[in-house]
Amino acid sequence: TRIYVPRDTTALSLGADEVAAKLEQGCAERNLGVELVRNGSRGLFWLEPLLEVETDQGRIAYGPVAPEDIPALLDEGLLNGRPGHPLYRGPTEEIPYLKKQQRLTFARAGITDPVSLDDYIRHGGYVGLRKALAKIAQEIVDEVKTSGLRGRGGAAFPAGIKWQTVLDADARTPNSPYSKRKFIVCNADEGDSGTFADRLVMEADPFMLIEGMTIAGLAVGADTGFIYLRSEYPVAHQILNEAIARAEEVGYLGDNVLNSGKAFHLEVRLGAGAYICGEETSLLDSLEGKRGQVRVKPPLPALKGAFGQPTVVNNVLTLAAVPFILAEGGQAYADYGMGRSRGTLPFQLTGNIERGGVVELAFGITLRELLEDFGGGTASGRPMRAVQVGGPLGAYMPESQWDTPLDYEAFSEVGAVVGHGGIVVFDDTVDMLDQARFAMEFCAIESCGKCTPCRIGSTRGVEVIDRIRANEQRDDNLILLRDLCDTLEDGSLCAMGGMTPNPVRSALQYFPDDFYRDPTTAS
Ligand code: NAI
Ligand code: SF4
Repeated sequence: TRIYVPRDTTALSLGADEVAAKLEQGCAERNLGVELVRNGSRGLFWLEPLLEVETDQGRIAYGPVAPEDIPALLDEGLLNGRPGHPLYRGPTEEIPYLKKQQRLTFARAGITDPVSLDDYIRHGGYVGLRKALAKIAQEIVDEVKTSGLRGRGGAAFPAGIKWQTVLDADARTPNSPYSKRKFIVCNADEGDSGTFADRLVMEADPFMLIEGMTIAGLAVGADTGFIYLRSEYPVAHQILNEAIARAEEVGYLGDNVLNSGKAFHLEVRLGAGAYICGEETSLLDSLEGKRGQVRVKPPLPALKGAFGQPTVVNNVLTLAAVPFILAEGGQAYADYGMGRSRGTLPFQLTGNIERGGVVELAFGITLRELLEDFGGGTASGRPMRAVQVGGPLGAYMPESQWDTPLDYEAFSEVGAVVGHGGIVVFDDTVDMLDQARFAMEFCAIESCGKCTPCRIGSTRGVEVIDRIRANEQRDDNLILLRDLCDTLEDGSLCAMGGMTPNPVRSALQYFPDDFYRDPTTAS
Protein backbone atom coordinates (compact mmCIF):
# COMPACT_ATOMS: atom_id res chain seq x y z
CA THR A 1 0.00 0.00 0.00
CA ARG A 2 1.21 3.48 -0.81
CA ILE A 3 0.51 6.30 1.64
CA TYR A 4 1.24 9.95 0.97
CA VAL A 5 2.16 12.49 3.65
CA PRO A 6 3.21 15.93 2.35
CA ARG A 7 6.62 17.45 3.04
CA ASP A 8 6.03 21.08 2.08
CA THR A 9 6.49 23.92 4.58
CA THR A 10 2.79 24.24 5.49
CA ALA A 11 2.27 20.55 6.15
CA LEU A 12 5.56 20.39 8.07
CA SER A 13 4.60 23.35 10.22
CA LEU A 14 1.36 21.54 11.07
CA GLY A 15 3.15 18.37 12.12
CA ALA A 16 3.49 16.27 8.93
CA ASP A 17 6.88 14.85 9.97
CA GLU A 18 5.46 13.67 13.28
CA VAL A 19 2.50 12.12 11.46
CA ALA A 20 4.85 10.34 9.04
CA ALA A 21 7.02 9.04 11.89
CA LYS A 22 4.00 7.77 13.83
CA LEU A 23 2.66 6.12 10.70
CA GLU A 24 5.92 4.30 10.03
CA GLN A 25 6.08 3.18 13.63
CA GLY A 26 2.43 2.05 13.65
CA CYS A 27 2.84 0.10 10.42
CA ALA A 28 6.00 -1.59 11.69
CA GLU A 29 4.28 -2.62 14.94
CA ARG A 30 1.40 -4.13 12.99
CA ASN A 31 3.62 -5.70 10.32
CA LEU A 32 1.92 -3.73 7.57
CA GLY A 33 3.91 -3.32 4.37
CA VAL A 34 3.52 0.32 3.46
CA GLU A 35 5.38 2.56 1.04
CA LEU A 36 5.45 6.08 2.43
CA VAL A 37 5.70 8.83 -0.21
CA ARG A 38 6.49 12.40 0.88
CA ASN A 39 4.55 14.38 -1.69
CA GLY A 40 3.90 18.12 -1.86
CA SER A 41 0.67 19.59 -0.56
CA ARG A 42 -2.46 19.67 -2.71
CA GLY A 43 -2.84 23.22 -1.42
CA LEU A 44 -5.86 22.40 0.76
CA PHE A 45 -4.12 23.80 3.78
CA TRP A 46 -7.19 23.60 6.01
CA LEU A 47 -6.88 19.81 5.77
CA GLU A 48 -3.15 19.57 6.41
CA PRO A 49 -1.52 17.34 7.33
CA LEU A 50 -3.55 15.57 4.64
CA LEU A 51 -2.78 11.89 4.52
CA GLU A 52 -3.72 9.99 1.36
CA VAL A 53 -3.98 6.24 0.84
CA GLU A 54 -3.82 4.68 -2.61
CA THR A 55 -6.72 2.27 -3.09
CA ASP A 56 -8.60 0.64 -5.94
CA GLN A 57 -10.98 3.63 -5.89
CA GLY A 58 -8.11 6.10 -6.24
CA ARG A 59 -6.49 8.11 -3.49
CA ILE A 60 -8.52 8.47 -0.29
CA ALA A 61 -7.93 11.51 1.92
CA TYR A 62 -7.81 11.91 5.69
CA GLY A 63 -7.22 15.22 7.36
CA PRO A 64 -6.22 17.14 9.26
CA VAL A 65 -4.36 14.24 10.84
CA ALA A 66 -2.55 14.55 14.17
CA PRO A 67 0.10 11.98 15.20
CA GLU A 68 -2.21 10.70 17.95
CA ASP A 69 -4.88 9.88 15.33
CA ILE A 70 -2.63 7.32 13.63
CA PRO A 71 -3.18 4.24 15.85
CA ALA A 72 -6.97 4.53 15.55
CA LEU A 73 -6.76 5.17 11.82
CA LEU A 74 -4.68 2.04 11.37
CA ASP A 75 -6.99 0.00 13.61
CA GLU A 76 -10.15 1.27 11.93
CA GLY A 77 -9.29 0.30 8.38
CA LEU A 78 -7.45 3.29 7.06
CA LEU A 79 -5.39 1.11 4.77
CA ASN A 80 -8.50 -0.02 2.92
CA GLY A 81 -9.68 3.54 2.45
CA ARG A 82 -13.00 2.73 4.11
CA PRO A 83 -15.24 5.42 5.61
CA GLY A 84 -15.99 5.36 9.30
CA HIS A 85 -13.43 7.67 10.81
CA PRO A 86 -14.24 11.35 11.44
CA LEU A 87 -11.13 12.38 9.48
CA TYR A 88 -12.18 10.40 6.39
CA ARG A 89 -12.67 12.84 3.48
CA GLY A 90 -13.38 10.38 0.65
CA PRO A 91 -11.56 10.35 -2.67
CA THR A 92 -9.20 13.34 -2.73
CA GLU A 93 -10.16 14.36 -6.25
CA GLU A 94 -13.83 14.51 -5.19
CA ILE A 95 -13.28 17.04 -2.39
CA PRO A 96 -15.31 19.99 -3.75
CA TYR A 97 -12.58 22.52 -2.90
CA LEU A 98 -10.27 20.64 -5.27
CA LYS A 99 -12.79 19.33 -7.76
CA LYS A 100 -14.14 22.78 -8.60
CA GLN A 101 -10.69 24.15 -9.46
CA GLN A 102 -9.18 24.52 -12.93
CA ARG A 103 -5.68 23.36 -12.24
CA LEU A 104 -3.15 23.94 -14.99
CA THR A 105 -0.14 25.10 -12.96
CA PHE A 106 -1.04 23.04 -9.91
CA ALA A 107 -2.19 19.99 -11.87
CA ARG A 108 0.56 17.79 -10.39
CA ALA A 109 0.86 19.42 -6.95
CA GLY A 110 0.44 16.82 -4.25
CA ILE A 111 0.10 14.02 -6.75
CA THR A 112 3.78 13.40 -7.39
CA ASP A 113 6.89 13.01 -5.31
CA PRO A 114 8.43 16.46 -5.91
CA VAL A 115 12.00 15.22 -6.31
CA SER A 116 11.20 12.24 -8.49
CA LEU A 117 11.98 13.06 -12.10
CA ASP A 118 10.39 9.79 -13.21
CA ASP A 119 7.16 10.75 -11.46
CA TYR A 120 7.28 14.16 -13.14
CA ILE A 121 7.72 12.61 -16.57
CA ARG A 122 4.99 10.02 -15.91
CA HIS A 123 2.60 12.88 -15.20
CA GLY A 124 3.20 14.85 -18.39
CA GLY A 125 6.46 16.56 -17.45
CA TYR A 126 9.03 17.60 -20.06
CA VAL A 127 6.59 17.30 -22.98
CA GLY A 128 6.78 21.08 -23.33
CA LEU A 129 10.58 21.13 -23.42
CA ARG A 130 10.68 18.42 -26.09
CA LYS A 131 8.24 20.42 -28.20
CA ALA A 132 10.26 23.60 -27.63
CA LEU A 133 13.43 21.84 -28.79
CA ALA A 134 11.72 21.12 -32.11
CA LYS A 135 11.00 24.84 -32.62
CA ILE A 136 13.13 27.85 -33.43
CA ALA A 137 13.37 30.56 -30.77
CA GLN A 138 10.82 32.87 -32.43
CA GLU A 139 8.24 30.07 -32.55
CA ILE A 140 8.58 29.50 -28.81
CA VAL A 141 8.11 33.20 -28.13
CA ASP A 142 5.09 33.24 -30.45
CA GLU A 143 3.50 30.37 -28.53
CA VAL A 144 3.84 32.35 -25.30
CA LYS A 145 2.38 35.43 -27.00
CA THR A 146 -0.59 33.36 -28.22
CA SER A 147 -1.22 32.15 -24.67
CA GLY A 148 -1.78 35.72 -23.49
CA LEU A 149 0.27 34.90 -20.37
CA ARG A 150 0.98 38.01 -18.30
CA GLY A 151 3.52 38.41 -15.52
CA ARG A 152 2.18 36.71 -12.41
CA GLY A 153 4.40 38.61 -9.98
CA GLY A 154 1.83 41.39 -9.90
CA ALA A 155 2.48 43.86 -12.71
CA ALA A 156 0.86 41.63 -15.38
CA PHE A 157 3.16 42.69 -18.22
CA PRO A 158 2.72 40.34 -21.24
CA ALA A 159 5.37 37.63 -20.92
CA GLY A 160 5.64 37.07 -24.68
CA ILE A 161 6.48 40.73 -25.30
CA LYS A 162 9.12 40.68 -22.56
CA TRP A 163 10.65 37.53 -24.08
CA GLN A 164 10.57 39.14 -27.55
CA THR A 165 12.50 42.14 -26.20
CA VAL A 166 15.17 39.84 -24.79
CA LEU A 167 15.28 37.68 -27.92
CA ASP A 168 15.81 40.77 -30.08
CA ALA A 169 18.27 42.45 -27.69
CA ASP A 170 21.87 42.92 -28.72
CA ALA A 171 23.92 41.18 -26.04
CA ARG A 172 27.33 42.48 -27.11
CA THR A 173 28.88 44.45 -24.26
CA PRO A 174 32.45 45.48 -25.05
CA ASN A 175 34.91 44.82 -22.21
CA SER A 176 32.40 42.74 -20.22
CA PRO A 177 33.21 39.14 -19.35
CA TYR A 178 29.50 38.48 -19.89
CA SER A 179 29.39 39.89 -23.43
CA LYS A 180 27.00 38.07 -25.78
CA ARG A 181 25.29 36.29 -22.89
CA LYS A 182 21.66 36.50 -21.82
CA PHE A 183 20.09 35.31 -18.59
CA ILE A 184 16.85 33.98 -17.20
CA VAL A 185 16.11 35.11 -13.66
CA CYS A 186 13.25 33.64 -11.69
CA ASN A 187 11.89 35.95 -9.05
CA ALA A 188 11.20 33.62 -6.12
CA ASP A 189 11.38 36.36 -3.49
CA GLU A 190 7.70 35.91 -2.74
CA GLY A 191 7.30 38.71 -0.22
CA ASP A 192 3.65 39.72 -0.49
CA SER A 193 1.58 39.10 2.60
CA GLY A 194 -0.82 36.21 2.14
CA THR A 195 1.04 34.64 -0.77
CA PHE A 196 2.50 31.17 -0.95
CA ALA A 197 1.79 29.91 -4.47
CA ASP A 198 5.42 30.34 -5.59
CA ARG A 199 6.59 28.36 -2.61
CA LEU A 200 4.13 25.60 -3.25
CA VAL A 201 5.22 25.31 -6.89
CA MET A 202 8.84 24.98 -5.79
CA GLU A 203 8.06 22.53 -3.01
CA ALA A 204 5.44 20.42 -4.77
CA ASP A 205 6.51 20.49 -8.43
CA PRO A 206 10.01 21.93 -8.82
CA PHE A 207 10.73 20.29 -12.18
CA MET A 208 7.91 22.35 -13.70
CA LEU A 209 9.78 25.54 -12.82
CA ILE A 210 13.07 24.08 -14.02
CA GLU A 211 11.42 23.08 -17.30
CA GLY A 212 9.80 26.50 -17.71
CA MET A 213 13.14 28.25 -17.20
CA THR A 214 14.87 25.92 -19.65
CA ILE A 215 12.22 26.69 -22.28
CA ALA A 216 12.67 30.43 -21.58
CA GLY A 217 16.42 29.98 -22.11
CA LEU A 218 15.81 28.34 -25.49
CA ALA A 219 13.33 31.07 -26.43
CA VAL A 220 15.66 34.02 -25.87
CA GLY A 221 19.09 32.44 -26.28
CA ALA A 222 20.13 32.35 -22.63
CA ASP A 223 22.41 29.60 -21.36
CA THR A 224 22.09 30.29 -17.65
CA GLY A 225 19.26 30.81 -15.21
CA PHE A 226 19.16 31.95 -11.61
CA ILE A 227 16.40 31.31 -9.14
CA TYR A 228 16.50 34.19 -6.67
CA LEU A 229 14.94 32.56 -3.64
CA ARG A 230 13.99 34.22 -0.37
CA SER A 231 15.99 32.81 2.51
CA GLU A 232 12.77 32.27 4.46
CA TYR A 233 12.06 29.26 2.22
CA PRO A 234 14.61 26.65 3.38
CA VAL A 235 12.45 23.67 2.37
CA ALA A 236 12.02 25.04 -1.16
CA HIS A 237 15.78 25.62 -1.27
CA GLN A 238 16.54 22.03 -0.43
CA ILE A 239 13.94 20.61 -2.83
CA LEU A 240 15.03 22.87 -5.70
CA ASN A 241 18.67 21.95 -5.27
CA GLU A 242 17.79 18.26 -5.19
CA ALA A 243 15.67 18.59 -8.34
CA ILE A 244 18.32 20.63 -10.19
CA ALA A 245 21.00 18.05 -9.36
CA ARG A 246 18.74 15.28 -10.63
CA ALA A 247 17.92 17.15 -13.87
CA GLU A 248 21.65 17.72 -14.45
CA GLU A 249 22.44 14.08 -13.79
CA VAL A 250 20.20 12.87 -16.60
CA GLY A 251 20.83 15.63 -19.13
CA TYR A 252 17.75 17.82 -18.74
CA LEU A 253 20.11 20.60 -17.65
CA GLY A 254 23.74 21.14 -18.54
CA ASP A 255 25.96 21.78 -21.56
CA ASN A 256 23.88 19.69 -23.93
CA VAL A 257 20.22 19.68 -22.93
CA LEU A 258 18.68 16.40 -24.17
CA ASN A 259 21.47 16.16 -26.78
CA SER A 260 20.21 19.30 -28.50
CA GLY A 261 23.60 20.98 -28.53
CA LYS A 262 22.06 23.77 -26.42
CA ALA A 263 23.27 24.56 -22.92
CA PHE A 264 21.21 25.57 -19.94
CA HIS A 265 22.55 25.80 -16.41
CA LEU A 266 20.58 26.65 -13.33
CA GLU A 267 21.59 27.98 -9.94
CA VAL A 268 19.68 28.99 -6.83
CA ARG A 269 20.80 32.21 -5.13
CA LEU A 270 19.45 33.20 -1.75
CA GLY A 271 18.11 36.58 -0.68
CA ALA A 272 18.55 37.93 2.82
CA GLY A 273 15.10 38.99 3.91
CA ALA A 274 14.50 42.35 2.20
CA TYR A 275 11.03 42.86 0.72
CA ILE A 276 12.42 45.30 -1.82
CA CYS A 277 14.58 42.56 -3.32
CA GLY A 278 11.36 41.27 -4.91
CA GLU A 279 11.46 44.41 -7.07
CA GLU A 280 13.25 43.23 -10.16
CA THR A 281 16.13 45.72 -10.27
CA SER A 282 16.92 45.43 -6.54
CA LEU A 283 16.77 41.71 -7.02
CA LEU A 284 19.37 41.94 -9.77
CA ASP A 285 21.68 44.04 -7.59
CA SER A 286 21.30 41.53 -4.78
CA LEU A 287 21.85 38.63 -7.19
CA GLU A 288 25.10 40.26 -8.27
CA GLY A 289 26.23 40.41 -4.65
CA LYS A 290 25.48 44.08 -4.00
CA ARG A 291 23.10 45.70 -1.53
CA GLY A 292 19.62 45.41 -3.04
CA GLN A 293 18.63 48.88 -4.15
CA VAL A 294 16.21 49.87 -6.88
CA ARG A 295 17.81 50.84 -10.22
CA VAL A 296 16.41 53.62 -12.35
CA LYS A 297 14.54 52.29 -15.41
CA PRO A 298 15.32 52.58 -18.31
CA PRO A 299 17.31 50.63 -19.15
CA LEU A 300 14.86 47.78 -18.70
CA PRO A 301 16.29 44.52 -17.37
CA ALA A 302 15.15 42.99 -20.66
CA LEU A 303 17.94 45.04 -22.27
CA LYS A 304 20.41 45.46 -19.41
CA GLY A 305 19.66 43.14 -16.54
CA ALA A 306 21.84 40.65 -14.67
CA PHE A 307 25.53 41.60 -15.03
CA GLY A 308 24.47 44.26 -17.56
CA GLN A 309 23.16 41.67 -20.02
CA PRO A 310 19.68 41.18 -21.54
CA THR A 311 17.65 39.28 -18.95
CA VAL A 312 14.20 37.79 -18.63
CA VAL A 313 13.00 38.41 -15.08
CA ASN A 314 9.81 36.48 -14.45
CA ASN A 315 7.96 35.36 -11.37
CA VAL A 316 7.81 31.65 -10.43
CA LEU A 317 4.16 31.31 -11.53
CA THR A 318 4.86 32.91 -14.90
CA LEU A 319 7.67 30.48 -15.68
CA ALA A 320 5.72 27.57 -14.21
CA ALA A 321 2.87 28.21 -16.68
CA VAL A 322 5.23 27.80 -19.65
CA PRO A 323 5.54 23.97 -19.80
CA PHE A 324 1.74 23.66 -20.15
CA ILE A 325 1.71 26.36 -22.87
CA LEU A 326 4.37 24.57 -24.91
CA ALA A 327 2.91 21.12 -24.31
CA GLU A 328 -0.73 21.97 -25.07
CA GLY A 329 -0.28 25.05 -27.24
CA GLY A 330 -0.71 28.73 -26.40
CA GLN A 331 -4.34 28.67 -27.47
CA ALA A 332 -5.21 25.95 -24.93
CA TYR A 333 -4.03 28.31 -22.21
CA ALA A 334 -5.72 31.36 -23.73
CA ASP A 335 -9.02 29.46 -23.77
CA TYR A 336 -9.25 30.13 -20.02
CA GLY A 337 -9.91 33.57 -18.58
CA MET A 338 -11.66 36.80 -19.46
CA GLY A 339 -10.78 39.98 -21.34
CA ARG A 340 -7.05 40.52 -21.41
CA SER A 341 -6.52 38.27 -18.38
CA ARG A 342 -5.94 34.89 -20.00
CA GLY A 343 -5.32 31.55 -18.36
CA THR A 344 -5.60 30.76 -14.69
CA LEU A 345 -4.33 32.32 -11.49
CA PRO A 346 -3.63 30.35 -8.33
CA PHE A 347 -5.45 32.50 -5.78
CA GLN A 348 -4.19 32.19 -2.25
CA LEU A 349 -6.84 32.35 0.47
CA THR A 350 -5.50 33.37 3.83
CA GLY A 351 -5.96 35.51 6.92
CA ASN A 352 -9.13 35.05 8.92
CA ILE A 353 -10.63 32.37 6.66
CA GLU A 354 -12.10 28.99 7.50
CA ARG A 355 -10.58 27.10 4.58
CA GLY A 356 -7.26 28.61 3.56
CA GLY A 357 -5.26 27.32 0.62
CA VAL A 358 -4.55 27.54 -3.08
CA VAL A 359 -7.50 27.88 -5.41
CA GLU A 360 -6.43 27.85 -9.05
CA LEU A 361 -9.14 29.13 -11.35
CA ALA A 362 -9.53 30.99 -14.61
CA PHE A 363 -9.66 34.77 -14.28
CA GLY A 364 -13.23 36.02 -14.00
CA ILE A 365 -14.37 34.38 -10.76
CA THR A 366 -15.57 36.91 -8.21
CA LEU A 367 -13.99 37.55 -4.87
CA ARG A 368 -17.26 36.63 -3.15
CA GLU A 369 -17.31 33.19 -4.80
CA LEU A 370 -13.77 32.59 -3.60
CA LEU A 371 -14.46 33.82 -0.08
CA GLU A 372 -17.74 32.01 0.39
CA ASP A 373 -17.76 28.92 -1.85
CA PHE A 374 -14.13 28.02 -1.29
CA GLY A 375 -13.12 29.91 1.85
CA GLY A 376 -16.28 29.11 3.80
CA GLY A 377 -16.32 32.46 5.61
CA THR A 378 -14.11 33.59 8.45
CA ALA A 379 -12.27 31.26 10.78
CA SER A 380 -13.54 33.27 13.73
CA GLY A 381 -17.16 32.85 12.62
CA ARG A 382 -17.62 36.63 12.80
CA PRO A 383 -18.73 38.68 9.78
CA MET A 384 -16.10 39.57 7.20
CA ARG A 385 -15.34 43.25 7.02
CA ALA A 386 -12.41 43.85 4.68
CA VAL A 387 -10.36 41.86 2.22
CA GLN A 388 -6.91 42.88 1.08
CA VAL A 389 -6.01 41.57 -2.35
CA GLY A 390 -2.57 41.77 -3.97
CA GLY A 391 -0.24 41.99 -1.00
CA PRO A 392 0.57 44.71 1.51
CA LEU A 393 0.42 47.35 -1.22
CA GLY A 394 -3.04 46.26 -2.40
CA ALA A 395 -6.30 48.00 -1.52
CA TYR A 396 -8.67 46.91 1.25
CA MET A 397 -11.90 45.97 -0.44
CA PRO A 398 -15.26 46.46 1.30
CA GLU A 399 -18.18 44.11 0.75
CA SER A 400 -19.64 46.37 -1.96
CA GLN A 401 -16.67 45.38 -4.18
CA TRP A 402 -16.67 41.64 -3.61
CA ASP A 403 -18.64 40.97 -6.78
CA THR A 404 -15.88 42.42 -8.94
CA PRO A 405 -14.53 39.68 -11.24
CA LEU A 406 -10.91 38.83 -10.61
CA ASP A 407 -9.43 40.34 -13.73
CA TYR A 408 -6.53 42.82 -13.86
CA GLU A 409 -8.54 45.52 -15.64
CA ALA A 410 -11.78 45.11 -13.63
CA PHE A 411 -9.82 45.39 -10.38
CA SER A 412 -7.94 48.42 -11.60
CA GLU A 413 -11.28 50.12 -12.40
CA VAL A 414 -12.28 49.93 -8.72
CA GLY A 415 -8.85 51.10 -7.54
CA ALA A 416 -7.68 47.64 -6.49
CA VAL A 417 -4.99 45.24 -7.71
CA VAL A 418 -5.02 41.50 -8.34
CA GLY A 419 -1.24 41.43 -7.88
CA HIS A 420 0.17 38.00 -7.15
CA GLY A 421 -3.27 36.67 -6.15
CA GLY A 422 -2.90 36.82 -2.38
CA ILE A 423 -6.23 37.33 -0.58
CA VAL A 424 -6.14 38.24 3.12
CA VAL A 425 -9.43 38.27 5.01
CA PHE A 426 -10.30 40.36 8.08
CA ASP A 427 -13.38 40.05 10.28
CA ASP A 428 -15.32 42.88 11.90
CA THR A 429 -12.86 43.25 14.76
CA VAL A 430 -10.28 44.79 12.44
CA ASP A 431 -9.34 48.42 13.02
CA MET A 432 -8.73 49.94 9.61
CA LEU A 433 -6.80 52.88 11.01
CA ASP A 434 -4.36 50.31 12.38
CA GLN A 435 -4.18 48.72 8.95
CA ALA A 436 -3.47 52.08 7.27
CA ARG A 437 -0.75 52.70 9.85
CA PHE A 438 0.65 49.24 9.17
CA ALA A 439 0.96 50.07 5.45
CA MET A 440 2.96 53.22 6.18
CA GLU A 441 5.09 51.45 8.77
CA PHE A 442 5.74 48.56 6.40
CA CYS A 443 6.92 51.04 3.76
CA ALA A 444 9.13 52.82 6.29
CA ILE A 445 10.75 49.52 7.33
CA GLU A 446 11.12 48.05 3.84
CA SER A 447 12.02 51.20 1.86
CA CYS A 448 15.35 50.85 0.07
CA GLY A 449 15.97 54.50 0.87
CA LYS A 450 16.73 55.68 -2.63
CA CYS A 451 13.99 58.30 -2.93
CA THR A 452 12.65 60.82 -0.47
CA PRO A 453 8.84 60.38 -0.67
CA CYS A 454 9.11 56.73 0.23
CA ARG A 455 12.02 56.90 2.69
CA ILE A 456 10.78 59.91 4.67
CA GLY A 457 7.15 60.17 3.61
CA SER A 458 6.29 56.79 5.04
CA THR A 459 7.73 57.68 8.46
CA ARG A 460 5.79 60.95 8.42
CA GLY A 461 2.75 58.91 7.39
CA VAL A 462 2.97 56.81 10.56
CA GLU A 463 3.23 59.97 12.66
CA VAL A 464 0.26 61.62 10.93
CA ILE A 465 -1.90 58.53 11.46
CA ASP A 466 -0.89 58.45 15.12
CA ARG A 467 -2.04 62.07 15.44
CA ILE A 468 -5.34 61.20 13.77
CA ARG A 469 -5.81 58.38 16.23
CA ALA A 470 -5.05 60.72 19.14
CA ASN A 471 -7.56 63.24 17.72
CA GLU A 472 -4.89 65.94 17.46
CA GLN A 473 -6.08 68.36 14.75
CA ARG A 474 -7.76 65.40 13.17
CA ASP A 475 -9.25 67.12 10.12
CA ASP A 476 -5.99 68.87 9.23
CA ASN A 477 -4.07 65.65 9.60
CA LEU A 478 -6.53 63.76 7.40
CA ILE A 479 -5.88 66.35 4.66
CA LEU A 480 -2.15 65.97 5.25
CA LEU A 481 -2.42 62.17 5.00
CA ARG A 482 -4.16 62.44 1.63
CA ASP A 483 -1.50 64.90 0.42
CA LEU A 484 1.21 62.54 1.57
CA CYS A 485 -0.42 59.69 -0.38
CA ASP A 486 -0.42 61.85 -3.53
CA THR A 487 3.27 62.64 -3.03
CA LEU A 488 4.17 58.99 -2.47
CA GLU A 489 2.24 57.95 -5.57
CA ASP A 490 3.60 60.68 -7.84
CA GLY A 491 7.15 60.97 -6.56
CA SER A 492 8.34 57.43 -5.80
CA LEU A 493 10.75 55.61 -8.04
CA CYS A 494 9.19 52.17 -7.69
CA ALA A 495 5.97 50.39 -6.70
CA MET A 496 6.99 50.18 -3.02
CA GLY A 497 6.42 53.88 -2.39
CA GLY A 498 4.10 54.27 -5.37
CA MET A 499 1.56 51.71 -4.18
CA THR A 500 1.65 52.29 -0.42
CA PRO A 501 -1.23 54.79 -0.82
CA ASN A 502 -3.51 51.95 -2.04
CA PRO A 503 -4.19 50.40 1.38
CA VAL A 504 -4.20 53.79 3.11
CA ARG A 505 -6.65 55.47 0.73
CA SER A 506 -8.98 52.47 0.59
CA ALA A 507 -9.08 52.34 4.39
CA LEU A 508 -9.92 56.06 4.45
CA GLN A 509 -12.52 55.80 1.72
CA TYR A 510 -14.42 52.68 2.71
CA PHE A 511 -13.92 52.56 6.46
CA PRO A 512 -13.96 56.25 7.47
CA ASP A 513 -15.54 55.59 10.87
CA ASP A 514 -12.32 53.99 12.07
CA PHE A 515 -10.52 57.29 11.62
CA TYR A 516 -13.01 59.15 13.82
CA ARG A 517 -12.99 56.92 16.90
CA ASP A 518 -12.74 58.36 20.37
CA PRO A 519 -9.01 57.95 21.18
CA THR A 520 -9.84 56.61 24.61
CA THR A 521 -11.66 53.60 23.11
CA ALA A 522 -9.68 52.99 19.89
CA SER A 523 -7.17 50.14 20.06
P1 NAI B 1 6.36 47.45 -14.05
O1 NAI B 1 5.00 47.72 -14.59
O2 NAI B 1 7.35 48.53 -14.00
O3 NAI B 1 7.03 46.30 -14.94
C1 NAI B 1 6.50 45.09 -15.20
C2 NAI B 1 7.50 44.24 -15.91
O4 NAI B 1 7.50 44.48 -17.31
C3 NAI B 1 8.94 44.46 -15.51
O5 NAI B 1 9.61 43.22 -15.55
C4 NAI B 1 9.49 45.39 -16.58
O6 NAI B 1 10.88 45.30 -16.71
C5 NAI B 1 8.79 44.82 -17.78
N1 NAI B 1 8.62 45.73 -18.92
C6 NAI B 1 7.97 46.91 -18.96
N2 NAI B 1 8.00 47.41 -20.21
C7 NAI B 1 8.66 46.53 -20.98
C8 NAI B 1 8.99 46.45 -22.38
N3 NAI B 1 8.63 47.41 -23.22
N4 NAI B 1 9.67 45.38 -22.81
C9 NAI B 1 10.02 44.40 -21.96
N5 NAI B 1 9.74 44.40 -20.64
C10 NAI B 1 9.06 45.45 -20.17
O7 NAI B 1 6.14 46.81 -12.62
P2 NAI B 1 7.15 46.36 -11.48
O8 NAI B 1 7.65 47.56 -10.76
O9 NAI B 1 8.18 45.41 -12.02
O10 NAI B 1 6.24 45.52 -10.52
C11 NAI B 1 5.24 46.12 -9.73
C12 NAI B 1 4.29 45.05 -9.27
O11 NAI B 1 4.94 44.15 -8.40
C13 NAI B 1 3.11 45.56 -8.51
O12 NAI B 1 1.99 45.55 -9.36
C14 NAI B 1 2.93 44.61 -7.35
O13 NAI B 1 1.67 43.98 -7.41
C15 NAI B 1 3.99 43.58 -7.56
N6 NAI B 1 4.60 43.13 -6.31
C16 NAI B 1 4.68 41.77 -6.13
C17 NAI B 1 5.24 41.21 -5.01
C18 NAI B 1 5.28 39.72 -4.83
O14 NAI B 1 5.62 39.22 -3.74
N7 NAI B 1 4.95 38.93 -5.83
C19 NAI B 1 5.79 42.08 -3.96
C20 NAI B 1 5.66 43.47 -4.24
C21 NAI B 1 5.09 43.97 -5.39
FE1 SF4 C 1 13.43 52.66 -2.82
FE2 SF4 C 1 11.01 53.34 -1.90
FE3 SF4 C 1 12.10 54.75 -3.79
FE4 SF4 C 1 11.26 52.26 -4.29
S1 SF4 C 1 9.99 53.99 -3.78
S2 SF4 C 1 13.17 53.21 -4.97
S3 SF4 C 1 11.73 51.29 -2.32
S4 SF4 C 1 12.91 54.51 -1.73
